[in-house]
Amino acid sequence: MGRADKVVLAYSGGVDTTVCIPYLKNEWGVKEVITLAADLGQGDELEPIKEKALKCGASESLVADATESFVKDYAFPAIQANTLYENRYPLSTALARPLIAKLLVEAAEKYGADAVAHGCTAKGNDQVRFDLGIMALNPNLKVLAPAREWNMSREEAISYGEQFGLEFPVKKSSPYSIDRNLLGRSIEAGILEDPMTEPPEEIYLMTKAIADTPDEPEYITIGFEGGLPTTINGEKLDPVALITQLNETVGKHGIGRIDMLENRVVGIKSREIYEAPALLVLIHAHRDLESLTLTGDVTQYKRGIEQSYGELIYQGLWYSPLKAALDGFIQQTQERVSGEVRIKLFKGNATIVGRQSDNSIYAPDLATYGADDKFDHKAAEGFIYIWGLPTKVWSQKTRGM
Ligand code: ARG
Repeated sequence: MGRADKVVLAYSGGVDTTVCIPYLKNEWGVKEVITLAADLGQGDELEPIKEKALKCGASESLVADATESFVKDYAFPAIQANTLYENRYPLSTALARPLIAKLLVEAAEKYGADAVAHGCTAKGNDQVRFDLGIMALNPNLKVLAPAREWNMSREEAISYGEQFGLEFPVKKSSPYSIDRNLLGRSIEAGILEDPMTEPPEEIYLMTKAIADTPDEPEYITIGFEGGLPTTINGEKLDPVALITQLNETVGKHGIGRIDMLENRVVGIKSREIYEAPALLVLIHAHRDLESLTLTGDVTQYKRGIEQSYGELIYQGLWYSPLKAALDGFIQQTQERVSGEVRIKLFKGNATIVGRQSDNSIYAPDLATYGADDKFDHKAAEGFIYIWGLPTKVWSQKTRGM
């Protein structure tokens, strides 16, 4: 008896997921492996990947064009929630996992598979996100993770595959572990494992080194409707085009790099480098527009929600009841978050220099120090008397005055 009969395997075309095909069949007695490659705007040609899977023994090789859903259904809610894990990482890799889990489950249900599989190892966050996502969407499916158990080095995995006639063209393999999609790149391992070592310039692809950025600032205006970005410099763009264009525009000013030590779900600290130019600037701009359109108490309360929201995305709980409940709060706050934010891009900085909204609750006649001031100055004294009363009584008592 094998571990499963028919498996849908998340497939990237890389060494690990390719070796998973013969491994599932020969070691774990799986009768049929269907591969699924998801296009999330990572820029890989998926046709050769599709063919490769069939050559390596897959009975069916599926390709899912999921970039639009990735942006609309996963990235956009995260922008509305201003999510930055540990105040820095905009979750560009993490957001892709629940979507891939959903695609795997849908394919498994369509093809009558009894299991889904992925190529994650035992030390990362992604295994948690896949397993939990799959579990939440279809608790009856088994989840197989060969690379979590096989204990093979990369070389051993390659030799294992070669036994079954798999070919691994000797391309100079990267010394890093890299994950990429439309939202960004995550780079770890190799010399980056030493937290004191500066990342070499060669690891970056979406962002320019400051030395190579323009010597003149560039101004852009991002428009939002209901908390979602819709325009750049007044031009209406569909979600994928908007992210694509913004990545290019801000990346060339060297904006969007993060070098951080983060706390993984499995308890390990790891050093990760990220590039996520568009996503970071959109969160920055969105949060600013909220400061113009939301009341102070909602904004403050939302900060706590945002923190929880970011943590649960990082920790694989996208399809959890807590996430759904927080969505209720976040969506309720977004309707009036419409308007424009003006940003100056220069030498690695995206500085917000202006914002406007038809829903602005900034009241110039209250804020002004000029002659047309409408603020009731007499009200301040009484307000402060009452506001400070508990503190005053406390002070009288404790100081004996
Ligand atoms: N640390 C990031 C996360 O958990 C990225 C994980 C994948 N990174 C990689 N370099 N393969 O979301």
